[in-house]
Amino acid sequence: MNTTSAKHVVLGVTGSIAAYKACEIASTLTKAGVKVTPVMTHSAKQLVGPATFEGLTGNRVISDMVESEQNANIDHIALAKSADLFLVAPATANIVGKAANGIADDWLTTALLATQAPILFAPAMNTNMYTHTAVQKNIDLLMQRGCQFIGPAAGLLACKTDGPGRMVEPEEIVDAVWSILGRSDDLKGKHILLTTGANHEPIDPVRYIGNRSSGKMGFAIAQEALARGAEVTVITGPADVAPPAKAKVIQVETAQEMSNAVMVHMDEADVVIGAAAVADYRVAQPATQKHKRSTQSLSIELCENPDIIGTVGAQKRPEQLVIGFAAETNDLIAHAEEKLNKKNLDLIVANKVGTSNSGFGAETTDARFLFRDGTIEEHPVLPKRSLADHLMNHIVALLSKTAKTSVTH
Ligand SMILES: Cc1cc2nc3c(=O)[nH]c(=O)nc-3n(C[C@H](O)[C@H](O)[C@H](O)COP(=O)(O)O)c2cc1C
Repeated sequence: MNTTSAKHVVLGVTGSIAAYKACEIASTLTKAGVKVTPVMTHSAKQLVGPATFEGLTGNRVISDMVESEQNANIDHIALAKSADLFLVAPATANIVGKAANGIADDWLTTALLATQAPILFAPAMNTNMYTHTAVQKNIDLLMQRGCQFIGPAAGLLACKTDGPGRMVEPEEIVDAVWSILGRSDDLKGKHILLTTGANHEPIDPVRYIGNRSSGKMGFAIAQEALARGAEVTVITGPADVAPPAKAKVIQVETAQEMSNAVMVHMDEADVVIGAAAVADYRVAQPATQKHKRSTQSLSIELCENPDIIGTVGAQKRPEQLVIGFAAETNDLIAHAEEKLNKKNLDLIVANKVGTSNSGFGAETTDARFLFRDGTIEEHPVLPKRSLADHLMNHIVALLSKTAKTSVTH
């Protein structure tokens, strides 16, 4: 099975007003474990600072051929050879024209001629420029040679014209990258129900009991499942990140609301993943008016919340997969094993919390997978999207196993 972990994308950024959107592309691909080498044209550097791309990718920006010592060491032929994909986003009328006509007067154009990797252009330009015969002819020429194009989209442009010319959104470009890099649609036709984020349990109308969950792991899982063709429903509590646009999103606050939503949707799902940091307890009687400060101590009675993943595990259909998460500060494996068995889960992702590179809010996670047969799969500290990639590989394998078992019985 193809994974993106070892892939190398050369990201060419050219002098369009949409250059800032390439930052999101660089960030998403890097977080997914792809090596991204940013290459900027002279014009692009006037619009977005190279330091941004260096910070996002962890790699030096390559630019003019003989401009500085730093670039003297970078062999454009070697880079062109090592790339799995050249993505030019945004692509100006200028780069399209140069690439179509074999001009090699800077780093990007030279490498584009030297590479045999697939090339994907995401054009961005004024409508009159885009519809100009010269530009259309150049695009046709490049397409005849096997280059691929995504967009442009139509709409109101920065130059105030209304028509085709806007670069398509980063999320769509990243999806196109996944499909060129060979990621299969191995979850097509499957429905994944996912809980993510924190819960806020009201104390009074202005205060709540919460936790530190950012929702990043859950949203990485949703993005990965969507990229592999699954239909995804995300039931999210309060989170720090925006859910993927293509997911069906249900916003909740409390554990009880999350539980109600899961019960409504669990029958539709082939896979239920509980990545939310569900509040185990809620305030038994939230005050209807704000508590006032007083010199007396304040005691608040807590009562137990529904055990969402435990209920799903108890009610699941034989061919349905239920996957849980255990976030632990201590005795990680023992606690995760207990949860796996007690809640009738097919797999549990046990991750350490409370360290800077793992757990709530971090971009990476220190996790291992525990299976019903007692197997434990260890992982190094990985970007959350890379861990989601590994998780999806197991989901595909487990789904095909349960499908075979239900045919046999
Ligand atoms: C603020 C600004 C925005 C621009 N936006 C675009 C654009 O969206 N598309 C385009 O083809 N050219 C645009 N241009 C013009 C290009 O930057 C110009 O054609 C340049 O020579 C492109 O060089 P490059 O392709 O090497 O980056 C813009 C110029 C400026 C100053």
